[in-house]
Amino acid sequence: MDNRIKLLKQKQAEALLGGGKARIESQHKKGKLTARERIHFLMDEGSFQEIGMLVAHRSVDFGMEKEKYPGDGVVTGYGTINGRLVYVFSQDFTVFGGSLSETHAEKICKIMELAMKNGAPVVGLNDSGGARIQEGVVSLGGYADIFYRNTMASGVIPQISAIMGPCAGGAVYSPAITDFILMVENTSYMFVTGPNVVKTVTHEVVTSEELGGATTHATKSGVTHFACANEISAIQHVKQLLSYMPQNCEDTAPALPYETQNEIRPELNTIMPENNSQPYDIREVINHVIDADSFLEVHKDFAENIVVGFARLAGRSIGIVANQPAFLAGVLDIHSSTKGARFVRFCDSFNIPLLVFEDVPGFLPGTDQEWNAIITNGAKLLYAFCEATVPRITVITRKAYGGAYDVMNSKHIGADMNFAWPTAEIAVMGAKGAAEIIFKREINAAEDKEAKWREMEQLYSDTFANPYRAAERGFVDEVILPEVTRLKLIHAFKMLENKVVNNPRKKHGNIPL
Ligand code: COA
Repeated sequence: MDNRIKLLKQKQAEALLGGGKARIESQHKKGKLTARERIHFLMDEGSFQEIGMLVAHRSVDFGMEKEKYPGDGVVTGYGTINGRLVYVFSQDFTVFGGSLSETHAEKICKIMELAMKNGAPVVGLNDSGGARIQEGVVSLGGYADIFYRNTMASGVIPQISAIMGPCAGGAVYSPAITDFILMVENTSYMFVTGPNVVKTVTHEVVTSEELGGATTHATKSGVTHFACANEISAIQHVKQLLSYMPQNCEDTAPALPYETQNEIRPELNTIMPENNSQPYDIREVINHVIDADSFLEVHKDFAENIVVGFARLAGRSIGIVANQPAFLAGVLDIHSSTKGARFVRFCDSFNIPLLVFEDVPGFLPGTDQEWNAIITNGAKLLYAFCEATVPRITVITRKAYGGAYDVMNSKHIGADMNFAWPTAEIAVMGAKGAAEIIFKREINAAEDKEAKWREMEQLYSDTFANPYRAAERGFVDEVILPEVTRLKLIHAFKMLENKVVNNPRKKHGNIPL
């Protein structure tokens, strides 16, 4: 018996060492934690239960049968984060560069299947040199097995990918299918083809960091939702993200205890500038409305003309989508539409109510936008709102112009409540442009064309640049003082708590892609 216990302990100790001390040191020297250290910081203390610690690869080519490491380059299992069940896989770069073998993929698939059956999120900590080169097609098959499960799990359980090292080639497509990606600045990168291939094919000279580092993907491509200063920060972000989410699509997000207090926020009365073309930061409005310090902004540095993120209102988790007048006047364009659409769909998949702040002058004009399909991409946001069945409330703070009025969670496309501030302007377009078109003859006939234009602009503005026409029709449910916004929203979301809407049965919709 003693010998058998000794043997087990020996195997366990071997597994804990991954690729060995020297490689662990090298990992640390790069400013990276090991796979197991990451799990230690992620999960509640002592909660992690490992599955498949002794799994070994089956490869016999290139002398691989002589080089085996228990666990085969990925640590998998389950445990709790803030007391809630979560499945995790953490790739171990010290074993064959964290590369994905057939068995490595099987381990990941196993926990994904358990997570689906038991309705709990999966967190992937990615640090891998890609497909295990010595294994050939079985490794590629392993990736496809994961992609398939990622897709089947999409909308069923939350899936989060933290990229903590290389993630290249086919490897990028598993994170890409998951709900949220986090990257660590300077130590992680993601690309389909690396700098060498890029140089050969397009003659561009670019570093890994420039091509696919955290900053690049957080600002230029929007591939990552978060760029974190270091691994600990990334792990904290994962925990925070999960705190706003339910365990699965049948569940609701946990609410924090909340006691009603004075919900009036007089600060909101003075945020709006006198001149309607002056910018203000919509985050100021958001922060005065939601519970203190509860905003977790997603995609913060990408498509900044729309702000999206999670927050709490009276302790309950909500998703916020807001036009940002402080960036490009809050106009909708390709990137902001896809950013908004993806977030709306996540919230709707996981029963997180949606709150929209609207101040939008319309869609961005120009050949760049038209040729790159603003029509198709703008339709994504429209479609996402139309099909969302969670409680949906809009607050129009200022401009709600043109088609963008319809798109931004209008009542016509299923919003449950629509509030407007007295500063709201709900019209087909801005007064200046409108006057130029519909009073063209009067303006041209006038002696002082400029004065006539201004007069007509004023007329249009007095008629439409307000919330009252929409309120008369019931397109706006209530025109409210800004200071009561929080109070009104708390009541309205409470009223909508048991909302049930069933969209027509179908195989799946065909969102414009
Ligand atoms: N398959 C098998 N082993 C791999 C591997 C892979 N895809 N990627 C890395 N490794 C191994 C290396 O052989 C090395 O082994 P060792 O510790 O026994 O020396 C170890 O992982 C670390 O790799 P190394 O190249 O020394 O690390 P690095 O930090 O300098 O570079 C990469 C990391 C990922 C940039 C580099 O390893 C690389 O380019 N890997 C191949 C990427 C690729 O083309 N993958 C296949 C397509 S998806």
